[in-house]
Amino acid sequence: MPKTVFITGTSTGIGAAAVRLFAQHGWQVAATMRNPADAKFQDLPNVRVYALDVTDAAAAPRAIQQAHADFGSLDVLINNAGYGLVGPFEAATDEQIQHQFATNVFGVFAVTRAALPILRAQQSGVIINITSVGGRTAFPMNSLYHATKFGLDGFSESLWYELAPFGIQVKVVAPGGVATDFATRSLQMTIDPANDADPYAGQVRSVLAAFNDRSGNASSAEQIADVIYTATTDGTAQLRYIAGEDAKGILGAKTQMSEAEFSTMIKQNFGLNG
Ligand SMILES: NC(=O)c1ccc[n+]([C@@H]2O[C@H](COP(=O)([O-])OP(=O)(O)OC[C@H]3O[C@@H](n4cnc5c(N)ncnc54)[C@H](OP(=O)(O)O)[C@@H]3O)[C@@H](O)[C@H]2O)c1
Repeated sequence: MPKTVFITGTSTGIGAAAVRLFAQHGWQVAATMRNPADAKFQDLPNVRVYALDVTDAAAAPRAIQQAHADFGSLDVLINNAGYGLVGPFEAATDEQIQHQFATNVFGVFAVTRAALPILRAQQSGVIINITSVGGRTAFPMNSLYHATKFGLDGFSESLWYELAPFGIQVKVVAPGGVATDFATRSLQMTIDPANDADPYAGQVRSVLAAFNDRSGNASSAEQIADVIYTATTDGTAQLRYIAGEDAKGILGAKTQMSEAEFSTMIKQNFGLNG
């Protein structure tokens, strides 16, 4: 019997690449997305598309149970849906903060809670949380995004212990930069960086320019999907998978440098003074 993977946020990017990769390996795939009309998986017979906005906590159990009933199994959950909120913390609205956490954190909680009774009853399963290099180190002007991804990283590490006795593996895939819609269509800003009257505009422009300069180092969504597939199928209890040479480089540097050296390097890399 083929195994079944349930993936959130599969309209574009890493989620869409993961759907294709698992389907090509013969898995049954529950591809979930906010708007099923965005699905581009008509060529993949073992993929079913379900509507799921992860901020709708009531919708998560419905989608999980429907996929479980349709495929007759549920083996792996990949919590991938997420987006970045960039810009100064001071300028973020309550709504922006709540929506960032509702998507990147509470959405993961809702879908994971919906899947756990099934995985625990069968005494097997893998839960993959897509965090970020930004769940292990922080860059300027991304405080709220980092808060969500650091949160998810700690959540996952604790859950790793809690679920091991039930045969459930928890894993984190932490990508560096990835060429997807993340930095374009999906990105939300707390200020308009073109507004010279804003006291943070200069910093934001420097940070965005630095990210843009490094976009040539980005991994492809397919490369990250490969890491997700390895994490799912390697049969080990490894918790974290750092995905992308850029992510490995920066996290390696963090372990080798003092805090002062590291923060000086980050300021230089992002063109920040002071
Ligand atoms: N790209 C990077 O540089 C990078 C680096 C590190 C980590 N990540 C993480 O990787 C994950 C995937 O991002 P990506 O790079 O593939 O970007 P992407 O192309 O923008 O894809 C993000 C996906 O998440 C979905 N999504 C957003 N809010 C949602 C919600 N409330 N409910 C359900 N789905 C929702 C989007 O759906 P819609 O089409 O409906 O908007 C889209 O399918 C995210 O968790 C992101 O934080 C990305």
